[in-house]
Amino acid sequence: YGSASAPIAAYMVGDTQLLFIARHGRQHNIPPDKVNYRANLYSLHQAGVKDVIAVNAVGAMTDGYEPGVLAVPDQLIDYTWGREQSFSDGGDFGLQHIEFTHPFAGPLRRRVLEAARAWSVPVLDGGCIGVVQGPRLETDAQIHRLQRDGSDIVGMTSMPEASLARELGMDYASICPIANWAAGISDQAITMEAIQETIRDSVRQARTVIEHLCRNPAD
Ligand code: HPA
Repeated sequence: YGSASAPIAAYMVGDTQLLFIARHGRQHNIPPDKVNYRANLYSLHQAGVKDVIAVNAVGAMTDGYEPGVLAVPDQLIDYTWGREQSFSDGGDFGLQHIEFTHPFAGPLRRRVLEAARAWSVPVLDGGCIGVVQGPRLETDAQIHRLQRDGSDIVGMTSMPEASLARELGMDYASICPIANWAAGISDQAITMEAIQETIRDSVRQARTVIEHLCRNPAD
């Protein structure tokens, strides 16, 4: 499937081996539409990964999903296009039509929420993420369409990541640091500086949740 975004970094956390892959590359220069999602997920699968916790920064369009908070979505709508979105590509993988009614259906999502609760990390349980192509941010009209469609938050990287993980039999949950109000929702300009500033603490909190999960693996 070509090259993954970055080499896999491996850590022992308690008795759990934690493997990390930087989907935007080590220099953070790979845009969401150019990430080789298949190579990333396949390399994790080959390394023996069973559970994938994705950290996906997002914008928010629903009251209650404030910037600075973590959301753990339970639904998604895929608006991406032109990405290699399946291992079923006419090759050796064969043809699979995976079941995807509940894209974050496995036990991992619950475990993420429980770990957050145990460490008093505030998280929003549920919500729909609209996954857009990027790398540009959206127009006002686009965000209002996403809202009408039922999205609460908007990001660029959950698809095809979530469905590729499902194709490989890996459980996939997403922790979404909310970086900003989405385009047209507030009067404030959306800048990269403000996004980075807003998610600094929540990314740290996401790491706390992941660390707690690794130290308290499911039996
Ligand atoms: N839109 C899409 N992706 C994002 C946003 C946004 O407003 N903020 C962080 N990731």
